[in-house]
Amino acid sequence: MLTITPAFILAASAFLRAAANPVGPTSTSKGGSGSSTDGQKFVLITVPPFPTDTSLKVIPDASHPFVAPGPGDKRGPCPGLNTLANHGYLPHNGIASFEQLIEGVEEGYNMEHDLASALSALAILGRGNAFINQVSIGGVSELVPPLPGKIDGKTAGGLAKHGRFEGDVSQTRHDIGEGDYQNFQDDLYDQFLTYVGRFGGDSPTTGNASVVTLPVLQEYKYHRFLSEQASDPNLEFSIARMIISYDEAAFVLNFFPNGTDNVIDTTILGSFFRNQTFPYNWHRRSDPGNFTFIQDAAAEILGAHPLVPGTNKNGVWTPDAPLNTGSTFTDVHLNIMQNLASSLNDVTGDLKTNVETLLAALAKPFGVDPLKVRPQGTPGQ
Ligand SMILES: *[C@@H]1O[C@H](CO)[C@@H](O)[C@H](O)[C@H]1NC(C)=O
Ligand SMILES: *[C@@H]1O[C@H](CO)[C@@H](O)[C@H](O)[C@H]1NC(C)=O
Ligand SMILES: *[C@@H]1O[C@H](CO)[C@@H](O)[C@H](O)[C@H]1NC(C)=O
Ligand SMILES: *[C@@H]1O[C@H](CO)[C@@H](O)[C@H](O)[C@H]1NC(C)=O
Repeated sequence: MLTITPAFILAASAFLRAAANPVGPTSTSKGGSGSSTDGQKFVLITVPPFPTDTSLKVIPDASHPFVAPGPGDKRGPCPGLNTLANHGYLPHNGIASFEQLIEGVEEGYNMEHDLASALSALAILGRGNAFINQVSIGGVSELVPPLPGKIDGKTAGGLAKHGRFEGDVSQTRHDIGEGDYQNFQDDLYDQFLTYVGRFGGDSPTTGNASVVTLPVLQEYKYHRFLSEQASDPNLEFSIARMIISYDEAAFVLNFFPNGTDNVIDTTILGSFFRNQTFPYNWHRRSDPGNFTFIQDAAAEILGAHPLVPGTNKNGVWTPDAPLNTGSTFTDVHLNIMQNLASSLNDVTGDLKTNVETLLAALAKPFGVDPLKVRPQGTPGQ
């Protein structure tokens, strides 16, 4: 026989709320006290304020020495984030929140606030858990469960999962299906160095043809595209991946040089890519590196050998139909939205609050209205 107790009423009302709202969290409180049906604790995401100190300085400081990752620590496809985690500018286990990612790249590389926020928003939305505000900078972690109700697939993926964040034609990782697409690859790095040797600048300290310059990236990126176009039958190089992959090359020229003289030589390059540690006596850039700098540098790199976005379909290169939203920026934003899960539109309550905060941060540098251009991709992809 059923006894109606206060505990029963609470449980029943929680069940009814969950049933009425199967994908969202059970709480609609604003303060961050919600819990999901599968026991996750809601964490409210807020865009941090602009940093007060954006000056040139030596990185790391004394309180951030290199500590090699242990067996359980996550590291992934991005040498810049791996380096931050190795020095404790991100949590050493490689699991970070939106705010930690932003503050880490601002402090370590002097990345400008809105660019940092957009990239961090894509990381949490695409490959993390926006309910608990966590993402792995490497592979799947038990510390980052999938979203409540698994509305975007059975795992949160982590930044190492292919698509949305990690992608083809990277500088030091193979394409998925071609080899290890997550970790540093000596064979690709050696190719990179041959391009420094052929197109690089001279340095009185590290020697002739040892400085990574614009022509090095122009030629090496084009070489990487041509070789994957020839060898990866499933190459995926849509407009968003194409631009983000050229942005990665722009990051090398904008965030890895010694901030005193803007020089990035092969010693500095090797320190970030191979050892994933800040070079000795390295200085971050002297002013915030923003979206304009990155897009301008990416355009210069791509401009030497212009490409059209496309894919290899069973080995046959097939250009994509142009998106034609009005500008490359809005095309890239739309293409990112075409890959983020459409189920993010259906969430309610606390999760909706976080999702909308992140979508707005992601749209801001592109100058797009986040309420008009919405996630429309297949969940779990
Ligand atoms: C570097 O290049 C300069 C000018 O091209 C040349 O004079 C110099 O001998 C070179 N140095 C070395 C170590 O090869
Ligand atoms: C990388 O680390 C190794 C071992 O500590 C060191 O011998 C080497 O000089 C480092 N290379 C760079 C480019 O920092
Ligand atoms: C950066 O430049 C400063 C000033 O010239 C120099 O002392 C320092 O050794 C350089 N650091 C690296 C990693 O090249
Ligand atoms: C980036 O900084 C430059 C130089 O301060 C400025 O002209 C440009 O408008 C900035 N772009 C953005 C998106 O903030």
